[in-house]
Amino acid sequence: MNTKNTVAAVYPGSFDPPTNGHLDIITRASGLFPKIIVAVTENQNKKHLFSLQERVSLLKEASENLKNVEIVSFSGLLAHFLERVNSFTVIRGLRALSDFEYEFQMALMNRKLNKKIETVLLMPDQAYAFLSSSMVKEIASLGGSTSGLAPKCVEKRLKEILKCTI
Ligand code: PNS
Repeated sequence: MNTKNTVAAVYPGSFDPPTNGHLDIITRASGLFPKIIVAVTENQNKKHLFSLQERVSLLKEASENLKNVEIVSFSGLLAHFLERVNSFTVIRGLRALSDFEYEFQMALMNRKLNKKIETVLLMPDQAYAFLSSSMVKEIASLGGSTSGLAPKCVEKRLKEILKCTI
């Protein structure tokens, strides 16, 4: 039986920076859907370290082995972006119960904006259940090792950026 869905799915996020947890979700989603559009945007509630363009290029480099994954950026409402790409399946990662309320609220609000929008929550490997972009930034800024937490290209850029700010 073919369990693969027939439509593309969109994985939106701020990815500041992309972590191995994000990559784990992208990899899982790419096995479930024929195409994954990773949609990078500004989260108005967060202050970003990396520019939008840089987050896109880091994600491109980190996911280059996944042939059905496309990385793009968007601004404005996710619901409007989904209309533009004609894809109404949203992927989000769920690490722990603490993520649930935010994800639940976002999923239902997106569905309120457009009833075609369905959100699929994927659990990462348990090795990444504690991992977040902000932790990766904090560890790097305090001189700790981010090995195994973020893709190599991200580790490299973090070192370069933080060297400039010391
Ligand atoms: O990785 P993040 O920061 O948790 O991602 C949150 C994101 C970017 C998916 C969310 O803030 C978003 O969808 N922003 C676009 C604007 C929008 O549609 N806001 C209403 C969401 S219900």
